[in-house]
Amino acid sequence: MRIDVFTLFPGWFDWFSTQRHVRNALGLGHELNLVDLRATTPLKAGQVDDTPYGGGAGMVLRVDVVEAALEARYGPAPPPHRTVALSPGGRQFDDALARELAAEPELTLMCGRYEGFDERVNEHLATDVVSIGPYVLSGGELAAMVVADAVIRKLPGVLGHEDSAVEESFSEALEGAPEYPHYTRPFEWREHEVPDVLLSGDHARIRQWRLEESRRRRRT
Ligand code: 6GU
Repeated sequence: MRIDVFTLFPGWFDWFSTQRHVRNALGLGHELNLVDLRATTPLKAGQVDDTPYGGGAGMVLRVDVVEAALEARYGPAPPPHRTVALSPGGRQFDDALARELAAEPELTLMCGRYEGFDERVNEHLATDVVSIGPYVLSGGELAAMVVADAVIRKLPGVLGHEDSAVEESFSEALEGAPEYPHYTRPFEWREHEVPDVLLSGDHARIRQWRLEESRRRRRT
């Protein structure tokens, strides 16, 4: 998979790119590319934003700047893959969307800054507008890392253990519910013991118990 992240702050991704599972993915032939939105701006002096029509605080990332960056990378035709604008007003990101995006051969993540993108970016240049939750971050970079992280760990072989991403919180294997609780040694800690079933060696019972715990934790 090739993930291209368009951002005004590519340096924010230095740390992310060195994390184990990301390096694993790169080692398997996947790509994580940072594209500096400022590098291809058609405006003078590296300008990328402008004051909002109608007035108000803050600056808005210009549509012509985003268009120029996409064209420089993909050519004049709209890219044939999912192009996600990260914006607090978008569709809330979840495991199902992570799975969908992980099935794509290419993915573009566009990080807004300031007050966000000119709405025409969301409407005409993006295929999806995605938020990671109901709160405002200072830019789309952290949101893009969240999305990239959730997507990358779905790629086969990235986690090392093949099953790790299959039976985890919100997965189909757990009917979309949160994951069951985990325990490890010590068996007894301050009089709190590990549930007996987990030591029973009865794998069918353990599986059933885990599924029930997972269902119990579903918020309904
Ligand atoms: Cl995608 N961007 C910003 N700026 N804030 C957010 C967000 C995105 N998702 C939640 N808050």
